[in-house]
Amino acid sequence: MARSMNDKSRLLSEEVLTKYRIELLVKGTVVIDPQILFTQDDLAKIDQLQAQIPEEQVREGDAGDLHSVFVKRVRVDPPGRAPSNVSGTASRQLMGLLESRDRSFALKKIFGASTDYVVRRCQMHRMPPGCFVGIHLDAASDPDFDYSVIVQLARDFDGGEFVVYPTKYEQHVFRPPFGAVLVTTCKVRHEVKPVSRGERRSLVFFCSKRGGANRRIIESSTAGL
Ligand SMILES: [Fe+2]
Repeated sequence: MARSMNDKSRLLSEEVLTKYRIELLVKGTVVIDPQILFTQDDLAKIDQLQAQIPEEQVREGDAGDLHSVFVKRVRVDPPGRAPSNVSGTASRQLMGLLESRDRSFALKKIFGASTDYVVRRCQMHRMPPGCFVGIHLDAASDPDFDYSVIVQLARDFDGGEFVVYPTKYEQHVFRPPFGAVLVTTCKVRHEVKPVSRGERRSLVFFCSKRGGANRRIIESSTAGL
């Protein structure tokens, strides 16, 4: 029986998940191939739901860093408060899709976790030409962020590379294909290079071993990305 051909068994294949887990552990970043974590149907559903969520333009990040990106918020994680979904059915349905049992199980395996992970924050990013996300540290937004998960939702654009800086002298450039999922540790700085053509779109969520209030201490009154 060709069981390995259906989506569910591919999602749950221990061997594949272990391969990604080791790469994430060794390199701090891994690209999960298309169709492993999100099927074409999942991506279509995400596209349909995100259309119902309002968008804002963000120019300044949590640590005073510079960005230019259009953001749709799905789950927010304000300092001093517990994460919460933004109002509306679309955000609730989107989180339901992301936190499905199979997907949570697969991500937990990739993170190498013995306990469950929670999604503390989730948002959509849209980047037409000229948009970029400056160098930043995700843990600056919430010290309990462990991994960020970035689902690529666009096919046709130039620029917009995801660049990770594990040390002062090292950089790794990623250009994941449509439907691929980039997982990176929140303890390493990274940026998204300016988009030069087309439109880069992604779904981004931040996972943590810890629930409860965001333990970030605010030093200045900056608008958070
Ligand atoms: Fe980031």
